[in-house]
Amino acid sequence: MKATAKAGSNIAFVKFWGEMDPTLHLPLNSSLSMTLDQAYSIVTVEFSPHYAQDEVDLEGVQAEGPRRERVVRFLDYLRALARVSLPARVAARTTFPVATGLASSASLFAALTVAGLAALGLSRDERTMSTIARLGSGSAARSMFGGWVEWVAGGRHEDSYAQPLKPPDWWPITDILVIVSSEPKEVSSVAGHGMAASSPCQTVRLSRVPEHLALARTAIETRDLGLLGRVAEEEGLLLHAVAMTGTPPVLHWLPATVGVIRRVLDWRREGLPVYYTLDAGPNIHVLTPPEYTAQIAAGLCRVEGVDHTMVCQPGGPPILGDVHNF
Ligand code: PMV
Repeated sequence: MKATAKAGSNIAFVKFWGEMDPTLHLPLNSSLSMTLDQAYSIVTVEFSPHYAQDEVDLEGVQAEGPRRERVVRFLDYLRALARVSLPARVAARTTFPVATGLASSASLFAALTVAGLAALGLSRDERTMSTIARLGSGSAARSMFGGWVEWVAGGRHEDSYAQPLKPPDWWPITDILVIVSSEPKEVSSVAGHGMAASSPCQTVRLSRVPEHLALARTAIETRDLGLLGRVAEEEGLLLHAVAMTGTPPVLHWLPATVGVIRRVLDWRREGLPVYYTLDAGPNIHVLTPPEYTAQIAAGLCRVEGVDHTMVCQPGGPPILGDVHNF
C-alpha cells in the first residue's frame, strides 16, 4: 500500500483568490493556468499498521501544527473513500522553495492525490481526481492536468473541477521563476482567501474575471503572448491589491519584487516580449518566448536581491513513479 507520484506546480494567469466554501475549497471564480515542468513535487505515501500515527515529512522535516493537520485531513478523506483506517507516512520533496507563493501546495496535493489513490488501490476518472485534489488545496485541482488548464468554479464539490484546454506542446512559452525569497511567507494562502472579502478591491478583481478568462482563452488559442501577458499582469496586481487593502493588510512584496517588475517594464519599453505575474508571495513569474529565455534569465539574475531563477516550460500531467522517497 505504497505509491509515489510526481506533479507539477502551476502558474495562474487568471487567479483563484477568495472561497465560497473554505472547507471544500469552492472558489469564488473560475481560474486558468499553465502546469510547470521543472517546478514539481514528488510525494510518496504508504498506508501501514506499522505506523503508530500519521507521519508527515515535508522537505525532510516532520510537519507539525496546521501544515500537518491539512495533510492528515486529506489522508482522512482518502481513507474514507477506501474504507480503511490505517495510519500513513507521507514524504514530499519539492524542486522549489515551499510556502513562498509558488503554488507548492498545488504540486504537493496533486501528487498526493495520485499516489494516495494508487496506494489504496482506488481508481477514479480525471475529473473526479481533480475535485479530490481541490480538497487539499484549491490550485491543486489545476495541477491534475498538464499544459493549459481551466478550473471551472462550480457551486458544489462534484462540479468544481479543472479541465485541460491545450496540451503542453501547444505553445512552448517560458515561465522564469524569479526567487527573491525562500522564507516561508508570513500569511498563508488559507488565511489570504479568508481575508479577501475584507478588501474593497475584491469586487473589482471579481468583476474583471469573466473578461480575463475570455481574453486568456483567446490568447492561448492564438498563441498571443502580448495578450496573455497583459491579463496575467493585471491579475497579479489585482490579487496583491486585494491583499494590501484587506484587514489586516498584507504586503508580500520585497524591494527585489519591485526591482524585477521595473526591469520587466523597462525591457518591454525597449521592445522585448516579456511580462510578469505574481501569486501570493514575493517571488515573480516572468513570461517570455523560448528564444529570449537565456538573455532574460541572465538579466534577471543581475537585479539586486534576486537569489536565483528557475526556467520552466509547460509541463505534463502527474505521473506515478517507482523511485520512492523512503
Ligand atoms: O491553492 P491555494 O489555496 O494555495 O491558493 C493559491 C492561489 C494563488 O496561487 C494565489 C492563485 C492561483 O490561482 O493559483
